Amino acid sequence: MCGIVGYIGNKNATDIIYDGLKKLEYRGYDSAGIAVIDHNIVKTNRSTGKLVNLKANLEKNPIAGNIGIGHTRWATHGKPSEENAHPHTDCSGKIVVVHNGIIENYISLKKQLVEEGHKFDSETDTEVVAHLIEKNYHGNILEATKKALKQVRGTYALAVICGEEPDKIIVSRNDAPLVIGVGENENFIASDVPALLAYVRDVIFLENGDICEITKNGVKITNQDKLIERKTQKILWNAIQAEKGGYKHFMLKEIYEQPQSIQDTFRGRVFSDQKQILLEIKNITKEVLNKISRIYIIACGTSYHAGLTAKFLLEEFVQIPTEVDIASEFRYRNQVLDKNSLAIFISQSGETADTLVALRLAKQKGAKTLAICNVIGSSISRDADDVVYTHCGPEIGVASTKAFTGQVMALLLLVFDFAVKKGTITEEQLDNYIKQIWNLPSKVSECLKQADKIEKIAKIFSQTKQFIYLARNINYPIALEGALKLKEISYIYAEGYAAGEMKHGPIALIDENMPVMVIATKSRIYEKIISNIQEAKARGANIIAIVNENDTAVTKLSDYQIVVPEVDEIFSPIINVIPLQLFAYYVSTMRGCDVDQPRNLAKSVTVE
Ligand code: F6R
Repeated sequence: MCGIVGYIGNKNATDIIYDGLKKLEYRGYDSAGIAVIDHNIVKTNRSTGKLVNLKANLEKNPIAGNIGIGHTRWATHGKPSEENAHPHTDCSGKIVVVHNGIIENYISLKKQLVEEGHKFDSETDTEVVAHLIEKNYHGNILEATKKALKQVRGTYALAVICGEEPDKIIVSRNDAPLVIGVGENENFIASDVPALLAYVRDVIFLENGDICEITKNGVKITNQDKLIERKTQKILWNAIQAEKGGYKHFMLKEIYEQPQSIQDTFRGRVFSDQKQILLEIKNITKEVLNKISRIYIIACGTSYHAGLTAKFLLEEFVQIPTEVDIASEFRYRNQVLDKNSLAIFISQSGETADTLVALRLAKQKGAKTLAICNVIGSSISRDADDVVYTHCGPEIGVASTKAFTGQVMALLLLVFDFAVKKGTITEEQLDNYIKQIWNLPSKVSECLKQADKIEKIAKIFSQTKQFIYLARNINYPIALEGALKLKEISYIYAEGYAAGEMKHGPIALIDENMPVMVIATKSRIYEKIISNIQEAKARGANIIAIVNENDTAVTKLSDYQIVVPEVDEIFSPIINVIPLQLFAYYVSTMRGCDVDQPRNLAKSVTVE
């Protein structure tokens, strides 16, 4: 995810900013840049790739000043390139901006600014902010930024400097973190604490809507035009703790990031006041979709499980037969795709070798192709005809968590987009679903509040040797995913089954030594799952059930319950997977396993 660092004081800003950006490298990025003010002149240096490239550029073209801002970019709008790297400037080159987040209404803002004569150099959403500030600039950069931000919709952590006012940095945030490091005769800004630790321990965490003017001797914070005070806190974390945002492991941090990462996936694509889905799909038009007779979804591991949820949704809402395949199996079969097939490839990394080969095979057969990816510019995203990014930010823990919920969210949006194109969803239904999408982040936050209870249950089962996960219908893939999480990070043998399939064999495994985790939230097959629980209970299994508030039937039958908020069943995979991620996490830590780097596993499987 992008990183921001800024400095104002008496030292060389370039060195401090470069050093701060280095501390944010672990977050992942594809380009970087720094801008400083030198005698009222803004000087910028940017480069693609890693920070060593920026360093080489800086050695060739040094820039120096006592005030500056820098950025590492994880591409969202526009490919990774020097033009798209931050900082971005206005037409005059005097106003410079770095930004984390997404400006949702940038297309309409850009159109208007271009009509007014502004010249754009990049494909980014960020550049509109520089030009909007320029449009409102009459000698006061703070006021111009405030006015500009009134027109901006989206998420942002933003830093602005202006050649004509070399004594201040303006910063603001909305739903993206920003922290001020308070020093003596110097101040710092950063998107994340690790960038500051070498210089300051006193920090101010900004809140949504804060707009601040930072000089070397002071910090003035306003919110809704009122001057306010925010308390200064002392950071006692060491560098490693800081990278993990204070969490013990990246996996836990990423589990807790999900309310935000899910929102990042749907923001800018659905609007609470408009009944439409805005996805960046160019090739699968209404006409093309009407000719599609079969959809194939191809992926590996956790991404495959996300694909299984989409089969349910596509057949339900778009009414096109859908098959889901493991990429390593698909590639060695006779692929019966043709020009009337749509093949969807799901991959967090966008580099998984089997998925990439499967994509190329599907293309050779003439199928239309679409990728769901998290990493911008990755091989799969480049090769597919269309790509829908999940915008979850880098996932560092090897076990996929936030990328999975991002994939399910992106697939939901895709299904609604297709349903609109096919005319298989009414405006009223879509409106209702869009409202529910906006409520999902807070529902995920509610699930996270169950962590203590889940930890207690994990303690009871941490030394078990085996586990069965049961669910049905759209939650069957969540049983598979829950079992995969447990095996990969705690090395306990775990298997996910479609609950109705139990009596055809696996039930023979059930006795008092086989704990059963069952997803039993409200759905069209709630009654059926109760019967399946009864079958397991009758054979002595210990049952842990994921249930909704006010559940009585399953609660009576099961030994332990994890309560999650009720949502429409099409959104339930996003909710129900959260306790399973947490359960696997706690079991793994209790067994002393390496949560973030489980044995034998790699984050990106680029070999067959
Ligand atoms: C499990 C996990 C893996 C990946 C799989 C595919 O937690 O992370 O199963 O889902 O290796 O990777 P991507 O999505 O990068 O293609």
